[in-house]
Amino acid sequence: MDRFVIEGGARLSGRLTIKGSKNAALPLMATALLTDQPVVLKDVPDLADIVNMRRLLAELGCEAEYAPATDPGAAGGTMSLRSHDESLSHAKYEIVRTMRASICTLGPMLARRGYARISMPGGCAIGDRPVDLHLRGLEAMGAHITLDGGDIIARVRGGRLRGARIFLGGPFGSTVLGTSNVMSAAALAEGTTIIESAACEPEVVDVARLLMAMGARIYGAGSPRITIEGVESLRGATHRVIPDRIEAGTYMCAAAITNGDLTLDNCPVDVLLAAIDRLERAGVNIVPSGGDTDQLRTTARITSSRVLQPIEVTTQPHPGFPTDLQAQLMALLCLADGNSVITERIYPERFLHVAELQRMGARLLRQGPTVVVSGVKKLVGAPVMASDLRASACLVLAGLAAQGTTVVNRVYHLDRGYERMEDRLRMLGARIERLSDKQEALAVEAVG
Ligand code: EPZ
Repeated sequence: MDRFVIEGGARLSGRLTIKGSKNAALPLMATALLTDQPVVLKDVPDLADIVNMRRLLAELGCEAEYAPATDPGAAGGTMSLRSHDESLSHAKYEIVRTMRASICTLGPMLARRGYARISMPGGCAIGDRPVDLHLRGLEAMGAHITLDGGDIIARVRGGRLRGARIFLGGPFGSTVLGTSNVMSAAALAEGTTIIESAACEPEVVDVARLLMAMGARIYGAGSPRITIEGVESLRGATHRVIPDRIEAGTYMCAAAITNGDLTLDNCPVDVLLAAIDRLERAGVNIVPSGGDTDQLRTTARITSSRVLQPIEVTTQPHPGFPTDLQAQLMALLCLADGNSVITERIYPERFLHVAELQRMGARLLRQGPTVVVSGVKKLVGAPVMASDLRASACLVLAGLAAQGTTVVNRVYHLDRGYERMEDRLRMLGARIERLSDKQEALAVEAVG
């Protein structure tokens, strides 16, 4: 298993292009199951989760060819998808267990093929992640759903899904992938579907934009009520994936924690307002310039002074502060001048990074879904390990700022969501290396 070795203390500076969004690209890829015509996606990042989704789609009769970006500064490669065999409808455990986003193939398969069998995704390191809202939404449209041998088996009663009024709010807000799943299925249903308490995340809006380019009739995506007038069939389309707001927010934190000076291109400032507000409150300077009029693909310069102010942060559904940036912000606040309070409202157990940060000298007190972060003067390097993507990013950030050497183990988590993170950080001046077990064995051999 690969690890990162980081020598802390280097100030990051330079320019970076933010990649296309992983969490938009995954459900966008699944929409190719809704048509037999080609769907072409641009700015798709080169990530382990994307490879897994390609494998899954291939097993479901949909080939996905990926041409990586030739220019290293580009926002991602091009993916061409085409569904050619609609008799394959079984998403097996071997792939589903590697990636919960597999669930977003359920709605499209059911709507187009009338049948889907998909392994029930289990819990994961960040806590319980049920799919009851996805299933409830599809059932309301006439799907008959049973469980067999750990698989969800869904069949359409009466040939075609029917439009319905569906409430998708849950105890922790609405469901992001659930909204995309139900919206995609409703695009081919008979009649009108109204999703109430829909997720407003930009990734849902991006899926709606592709579906509309394919001929779907969707109104209100990005608001809590989405109306979908079902159509008989959808055509192929070409679509550019939105920039990754979480990658952008992570590099903003990287600039801040190293007192750096970074310019981010293809930066989705418009959908990062809550994160920018909190970072500015902490004393980080973020200056957007140029870009589209909607500020979805703009340029932003991030600089930071030495003294960070403590702040309060609560994660919330969009447009609130995103849970996927909570861990990275915690790394930063470990070095603020005073006590910060972080409350996690989406995944109350998403604190795998707390114990690891403590090993680096952070002063953290967790009580339920809240962590009090008492700022310290410095973090110290240590071997650390995390079991999820964003917790790992948090530890890399802490390592960049820490005194001495930090070894972040199990970086395969990072490879799921950050393209070539070590190369990109090194390009900006970080002292960071990837070490594989094989390389390490050779190094020991050479020394011995
Ligand atoms: C998406 O997961 C993202 N994943 C997550 O990013 C992100 O943390 C999450 O949205 C919240 O923003 C992808 O897009 C691939 P939810 P999703 O359904 O859609 C509860 C990352 O680091 N819930 O919006 O699966 C659930 O347990 C990942 O990139 C139900 O109760 O999340 C959670 O508490 C991690 N029943 C809350 O709702 C359901 O049927 C929000 O989950 C579904 C969800």
